[in-house]
Amino acid sequence: MHRLSTRIKIGGKKIGLVPTMGFLHYGHLSLIKKSKQQADVTIVSIFVNPTQFSPTEDLDKYPRDLDRDKKLLSANGVDYLFYPDASEIYSHNYQTFVDVTNISSTLEGKFRPAHFKGVATIVSILFNSISPDYVYFGQKDAQQVAVIKQMVKDLKYNLKIIVCPIIRETDGLAMSSRNVYLSDNERKDALVLSRSLKLAEKLVKEGERIPDIIISQMINEINSVDSSKIDYVEIVDAENFLVPDNLIEGKRYLALIACRIGNTRLIDNTFLKVS
Ligand code: PAF
Repeated sequence: MHRLSTRIKIGGKKIGLVPTMGFLHYGHLSLIKKSKQQADVTIVSIFVNPTQFSPTEDLDKYPRDLDRDKKLLSANGVDYLFYPDASEIYSHNYQTFVDVTNISSTLEGKFRPAHFKGVATIVSILFNSISPDYVYFGQKDAQQVAVIKQMVKDLKYNLKIIVCPIIRETDGLAMSSRNVYLSDNERKDALVLSRSLKLAEKLVKEGERIPDIIISQMINEINSVDSSKIDYVEIVDAENFLVPDNLIEGKRYLALIACRIGNTRLIDNTFLKVS
């Protein structure tokens, strides 16, 4: 990978990287499309990163279909697929981890304590292996984006993070490789996430400025679905992920949800613009 990226760069070309864990969907394809518009060479990585899963999570059953992914990558004009083996990334006696401390400790970090350390570590390894100029992430993993941006700033990576909007099914469900776990009934129940985010947007539009009031209405909406079990519903400042007392004019906030529908843990979010 080093040899290849050096060759591309010596040729004066810009590399766009789309890091993924495979089982690609339209969300990933939107990142690839953006990379193809901006970069000269698009590289997609597929690596189901073991260090970002806790022992009780779904590493073994995480959906995988490399043949299908490869076809999608070819059909979408991707130049290279980087598909390393876990033993190549985390060699015997591997010891080095990247820990983005503060921003990793809230929300997802509370429910998945080692998750962002695993994400920051693998993303850093991908950056070091590929030396991309542009790297594309989806807004659906809003906190992941914030963690990676902080890492890029702190560790002085010479690259640009491009964040692309959440891609939703026509009925509002945010696209995710994990949606495949949902039964037909759960698939319907899962719409409660986007519904409660819409409710938050509506409340803010109507003038509500107290996060606790918005959050409690979102929680009521989610709890109206029997199969749901909330991990968190939160409103944070979109810049720094701090929890505001009140929503202030001209600022941008994020409403975030993590919730189980049956056994499937889903996350979703939306920007709240106060104007
Ligand atoms: O968002 C993902 O798919 C993963 O967290 C990432 C960024 C590819 C790191 O494993």
